[in-house]
Amino acid sequence: MPTVLITGCDTGLGRAFAQQYARDGWNVWATYRDLANTIADDRIRHAALDVTAFAQFDALRAQVGAEPIDLLVSNAGIGLDVGTLGELNFDYVQRMLSVNLVGALKLVETFVDNVAASQLRRIVLVTSRMGSIESNLSGGHYGYRASKAGLNAVGRSLAIDLYPRGVAVTMIHPGWVSTQGGGPQAPMDADQSVASMRDVVARMGNHETGNFVSYDGRSLPW
Ligand SMILES: NC(=O)c1ccc[n+]([C@@H]2O[C@H](COP(=O)([O-])OP(=O)(O)OC[C@H]3O[C@@H](n4cnc5c(N)ncnc54)[C@H](OP(=O)(O)O)[C@@H]3O)[C@@H](O)[C@H]2O)c1
Repeated sequence: MPTVLITGCDTGLGRAFAQQYARDGWNVWATYRDLANTIADDRIRHAALDVTAFAQFDALRAQVGAEPIDLLVSNAGIGLDVGTLGELNFDYVQRMLSVNLVGALKLVETFVDNVAASQLRRIVLVTSRMGSIESNLSGGHYGYRASKAGLNAVGRSLAIDLYPRGVAVTMIHPGWVSTQGGGPQAPMDADQSVASMRDVVARMGNHETGNFVSYDGRSLPW
């Protein structure tokens, strides 16, 4: 069975990704910001990873070794900033860029050889439609939008640079989902969103790379 490594499994979508792939018999590496949140499932291998703590990437790389990773899911992220211009919280803006953008890039750099050594050779970056510049008609959310637009830019470059190694990169928007980040009003739960995203990813061939898509498979504007 294939192997998947997922970040941000403490809650929400990351947790649902780990549980669903484990249920389907995949070999799962789930990473957590806090190992106290470990999923109670002994089919899953658990590891600590705060994506802003670079030393933890080295420790995780040592733990995983040269094991092939068929699917690398960069899911860890922090949610919407709400400050308006004039009262922005720049510490939060910077943290958002560190987690949502720099952390995702560091994850891929750390495990790219493991992915290239696998059979499936897929990288999924959980992004957001809020990162679309073209469909931004409501403004605000400076940090979050910039972090996800930046992530999309990173994903596109990764897709080009990794094409010769047969590695495909997909930027996927999970929909509006009722998690810690999405809030309780969201119309979809984490299990529904993840089932749909997994289906979209499973249906894509490796020639389809560098795409920005929604959980239901629709292409999204940059
Ligand atoms: N829910 C939505 O409607 C929605 C929409 C568009 C995009 N997204 C994206 O979906 C992804 C998952 O979010 P979610 O909705 O599942 O929200 P969530 O429940 O808040 O999950 C985010 C996860 O990322 C973890 N995380 C935060 N900072 C981290 C760090 N420095 N290192 C490692 N992990 C860290 C969180 O851990 P802690 O619990 O310890 O903070 C949490 O487990 C995010 O990238 C988010 O931007 C969600």
